Amino acid sequence: MRNIRIAAVNICRFILAVTFIFSGYVKAIDPLGTLYKLKDYAAAMALNDILPDWALVIVAIALGALEFSLGVFMLFAVRRHMVSKLTLALMSVMTALTVWIYIADPVKDCGCFGDALKLTNGETLLKNIVLIACATLVAWRPADMARFISRTNQWIVRYYTITYIIVTSVYCLYTLPIFDFRPYRIGTNIKQGMEIPEGAEQPEFESTFILRKNGVTREFTLDNYPDSTWEYVDTKTVQTKKGYEPPIHDFSITTNDTGEDITEQVLTKKGYTFLLVSPRLVVADDSNFGDIDQIYEYAEENGVDFLCLTASTNEDIERWRELTGAEYTFCNADETTLKTMIRSNPGLILLKDGTIIGKWSHNALPQTDDLTAPLEQLPIGKAQNDSTPERLLIVLLTFFVPLMALTIADRLWAWTKWIRNKQDNNRIFNLFKKRKKMRKKIVAGNWKMNLNLQDGVALAKEINEALVADKPNCEVIICTPFIHLASVAQVLDQNVVALGAENCADKVKGAYTGEVSAEMVKSTGAQYVILGHSERREYYHETAEILKEKVDLALANGLKILFCCGETLEERKAEKQNEVVKAELEGSVFHLDAEAWKNIVIAYEPIWAIGTGMTATSDQAEEMLAYIRSIVAEKYGQEAAEDTSILYGGSCKASNAPELFSKPNIDGGLIGGASLKCADFKGIIDAWKK
Ligand code: 13P
Repeated sequence: MRNIRIAAVNICRFILAVTFIFSGYVKAIDPLGTLYKLKDYAAAMALNDILPDWALVIVAIALGALEFSLGVFMLFAVRRHMVSKLTLALMSVMTALTVWIYIADPVKDCGCFGDALKLTNGETLLKNIVLIACATLVAWRPADMARFISRTNQWIVRYYTITYIIVTSVYCLYTLPIFDFRPYRIGTNIKQGMEIPEGAEQPEFESTFILRKNGVTREFTLDNYPDSTWEYVDTKTVQTKKGYEPPIHDFSITTNDTGEDITEQVLTKKGYTFLLVSPRLVVADDSNFGDIDQIYEYAEENGVDFLCLTASTNEDIERWRELTGAEYTFCNADETTLKTMIRSNPGLILLKDGTIIGKWSHNALPQTDDLTAPLEQLPIGKAQNDSTPERLLIVLLTFFVPLMALTIADRLWAWTKWIRNKQDNNRIFNLFKKRKKMRKKIVAGNWKMNLNLQDGVALAKEINEALVADKPNCEVIICTPFIHLASVAQVLDQNVVALGAENCADKVKGAYTGEVSAEMVKSTGAQYVILGHSERREYYHETAEILKEKVDLALANGLKILFCCGETLEERKAEKQNEVVKAELEGSVFHLDAEAWKNIVIAYEPIWAIGTGMTATSDQAEEMLAYIRSIVAEKYGQEAAEDTSILYGGSCKASNAPELFSKPNIDGGLIGGASLKCADFKGIIDAWKK
């Protein structure tokens, strides 16, 4: 079941990653297209002009960058908790939006995938339902996402991705989109793009006729059209079937002064034509008008047509003329068509025999140095290179290949570290050397949520005095609630009784109301912290992943860890105890290196034995502790396993402690109820003297 869940989470994570990378990238490389779409949405919500265009461009870049980065982070399992929550939040907003566009139909294309992939509103809704289901599953179990890059190196992926996508987006805004998904890409013959092939599906229409007779008005169709005694009033015609629509379907040019339609003339003209395209001259960038005028002069000298296509009013055209000294001919065309033709306002297109052979943003126009001879003899007179595979290769080489290289380096580093550990542990002489066991015998108390501050301090004092007077022959630790720590630290001689906390936060510091960080615990004078206790796993939903964070933070702050593991009664009945315990250790502590491992004490606490009075038999406990030692040996080598203290916890008392502690693999106990009274606790500590 667990494996199925993990597989499902990872499948969903890849679906989300691929979709977000694609949708984010196509938006990011076409910020102006995203801006036009945002404006469509704003208009549909009657919010037009609420934000100026420059602010919407920032929103467009941010949206593309957010989607792309979330996709990459999902792919590499970077910041799994935060990324999965953000993805779910984004999907919730997007899905609500698509429900609305599905019902109200305010825009025809959602714009999810820019111009790269057009979906109907119904298809978009379906897609988002699938994605939100995936996002929910992943947000439920983010820790199930397998990592490709260790935590320490993830920052490289984060910064590289965000920088890469923002730089790409700004570059495309400054020049033109790297990939052109619109029908006017380089190599397109506009006239051919407008043709309807023979036998293509024709649109169908249905007409209803409204007629009147003797003051009664009724509707008829051709099938039941009445006799001439009825008087004709009106006809309603609706399209019942969309016919084939050619990729270019509303391209038409009329001259601004005479209104003459010159579409055919422009598209069938042999040779070159420059088209300066500006959907609206009022918002066009006029900073490069000098370059434009030079190209116009060059065109004039070389007998090349130069037209400015715009959907602007005569006043705006006049203003542009005055501002830039433009002498070229202005023609009118549809605004949306012009926006589709080139993502720059103004932008320049070069036609040769009606085919688009070059496109330039106003920021990257050909310069006088490029215009030294007739166009036929110049590089710009040849079709620009617009090879999709070549550009894809560039994206792969500049983005995915470095990240793949990082992943491989990271895995190699982890692998060599593992090999080094293994070699250290396997040295031949280790086999012959009779080592003295290094591990400590320990009795640790876990007060849980018991005793107020005064009672706690009094008990600590009492234990301290008792043990100073009668030295234990094991290490003694008392783990208290957070608020006791600082005061208890004052009354303990920590050479005799060490102090520990019962928990610490999985965050370093910050706005986490009610949490106590590992650093704070350490600052009280405590040396230990209990992590992974079944009560915290069960009641406070601490997952293996959260515990891993806690373990790392505790160690980073110089705390030693009493790490608990153990199975439920059902799991024991199903004989799954080994599997459960192994998974708990693998999930939260087995990522540590050999050096860090020296600060770990394991406490096996079968859940069915905690506070129930049902102690595991000493044989059951011994069997499990031996098993734990064997898996520690597999991971860290025999020597490290021999040095690891492994405790038993669960209804341990003075009466059963001697029997438990007599077992070779049991190195002591983690005591709950019996640690709340000095005499009971001391009775267990004294078991080591028997
Ligand atoms: P009891 O000793 O009360 O069974 O509790 C064991 C325990 O949970 C220690 O952490």
